[in-house]
Amino acid sequence: MTVRHVRPEEHDALAALTVAAYRALLGPEMDAGYTAELADVAGRAALADVLVAVDGEGRIEGGVTYIPGPGPMAWFDGADEAGVRMLAVAPTAQGRGVGAHLVADCVARACAAGKARLLLHTTAPMTAAHRLYQRAGFRRDPGRDEMIGGDLLLLAYVLDLDIDG
Ligand SMILES: CC(C)(COP(=O)(O)OP(=O)(O)OC[C@H]1O[C@@H](n2cnc3c(N)ncnc32)[C@H](O)[C@@H]1OP(=O)(O)O)[C@@H](O)C(=O)NCCC(=O)NCCS
Repeated sequence: MTVRHVRPEEHDALAALTVAAYRALLGPEMDAGYTAELADVAGRAALADVLVAVDGEGRIEGGVTYIPGPGPMAWFDGADEAGVRMLAVAPTAQGRGVGAHLVADCVARACAAGKARLLLHTTAPMTAAHRLYQRAGFRRDPGRDEMIGGDLLLLAYVLDLDIDG
């Protein structure tokens, strides 16, 4: 499996995969606005690093957006911080380590850039993601939790990076 930047001709496939992965988990909780945001691969590729995991035959198995620092897609403002958003693995490819590879690639990018912390938000139903983040060394950081739309709690996770090591 290779992790690399998404190519323009792959935007539609990654959009469909991302919506399918989230819909399989969230079902009717996914409103039209959130679905459109998940599907806007071109929009986020213009602002951040959209990465895909590709199998040996060139099929996209998953994707993630790495946010290299403060800017349009970031919810944080520390110059020594980077972020992860929209991690998704095709329902048919889950449980084989694809998600872990995508997160590991983001961690490697943050380390290479000398970042002190890698940040992300998740929600309560995303329990497979919580286990993945904990295995990767992330810890919960309730002080960075956010409430959106009046009733959706975003759970913050942080990975402290060994910038000296
Ligand atoms: C969260 C998500 C990205 C995980 O992707 P994934 O590729 O299935 O993740 P992994 O394969 O690395 O880990 C998932 C499970 O497979 C297991 N696994 C990993 N490699 C394995 C292997 N080679 N053989 C068997 N099992 C394996 C892991 O132990 C893990 O088990 P657990 O969840 O019971 O702890 C995926 O479930 C998804 O797209 N969910 C919907 C969207 C979402 O929640 N995104 C997170 C936003 S914050």
